[in-house]
Amino acid sequence: MIKNIWSKDFPQIKGNNIYLDTAATSLKPKSVIEAINHYYGDLSSNIHRGMYEAAVESTQLYEETREVVAKFINARDDEVIYTRGTTSSLNLVAFSYGLDNLKVGDEIIVSELEHHSSLLPWQKIAEKTGAVLKFVALDKFGRITVDAFKKIISKKTKVVALTYVSNVMGYITPMKEIIEVAHKYNSVVVVDAAQAVQHLAIDVVDLDCDFLAFSGHKMLGPTGIGILYGKANLLNDMEPFEYGGDMNEDVGKETSTWKRGPQKFEAGTMPIASVLGLKESIKYIQKIGFKKIHDYITNLHRYTIEQFKIIDGLTLYNPLSDTGIISFNLENVPSHDAITYFAEKQIAIRAGQHCAKLICDWLGIYSCLRASIYIYNTKKEIDIFISVIKESIEYFNKLGF
Ligand code: ALA
Repeated sequence: MIKNIWSKDFPQIKGNNIYLDTAATSLKPKSVIEAINHYYGDLSSNIHRGMYEAAVESTQLYEETREVVAKFINARDDEVIYTRGTTSSLNLVAFSYGLDNLKVGDEIIVSELEHHSSLLPWQKIAEKTGAVLKFVALDKFGRITVDAFKKIISKKTKVVALTYVSNVMGYITPMKEIIEVAHKYNSVVVVDAAQAVQHLAIDVVDLDCDFLAFSGHKMLGPTGIGILYGKANLLNDMEPFEYGGDMNEDVGKETSTWKRGPQKFEAGTMPIASVLGLKESIKYIQKIGFKKIHDYITNLHRYTIEQFKIIDGLTLYNPLSDTGIISFNLENVPSHDAITYFAEKQIAIRAGQHCAKLICDWLGIYSCLRASIYIYNTKKEIDIFISVIKESIEYFNKLGF
């Protein structure tokens, strides 16, 4: 059996296609697609504006989803902001919080594991404010450790912006311990949870993070919707990131005032259909439960890695990955040539720098291949993947690579 008990819920799984690219975007279950279809097919109304039936239902579903998201991460409803995705969430924090709270000489701690969306906004803020970026040293496997973090944090550290799970190495950052240390220095911690939220049960109260960002589309939900969690006291003091409809309270000719709470940050018509879809993706994940998800992926990952380790002609960069993310190269084969081979064999993996160039530099590579496993993948699929890898090595060898 190439499929498992969950595969039937994902209409994108067709024929013998093998999807190993969840870290780029996950597949979407039928319930998510149905919620989106319900919005476009039956409602298609704006929110917070009309009093007709479809408008009322759209508003209700939109706000109910906020409650579902809040419960999912143990936040308060007024601490959950809808955005376009993790990138928008992190830019919102950088520009609405960072720009107003950082000054010359302040320090921002980041790492070489950061996705560009957790790095570039802070580079820009550093440039604009005169703050300085500091990089926490990675250990020999490329991991962020609490010890290394303790060595770099100082009284000058005002912001810590780190990935919870690296999209290239798959490591889980010891975030709770890092936040505990950071708060002793009164630093604000911004967590990029884009690759964490589909693998780990996140409790923002227990974690005590100040901001946390993630996307719907990597956790079985739609594209175009992301979440920014922020502690209410921080959000209340922040200026809006975008200005326009639905976020204002009173508008005058010269100045205007803003709503309080999440709506201050949700200007214009939001991706309502995607919000409705997100609710279903959370429900789907909750129905399975994180323990089952984690155990399933860990087993399959271990099974894959054991075989990877004994393939000649393959370099594996993250044998200690804590999630389903596996980064590797076929020796002497440019990663884009390799993915073309895999694509021809109906295997979907990703190649490139994965929007995380600094970790490629750290690894001493230009780019790499990345396979990422999720619940709808199976041992049978991994067996096929491994045999295609072996074939590809022979194929490229014959061509003289
Ligand atoms: N950030 C996504 C990835 O890692 C697109 O592939």
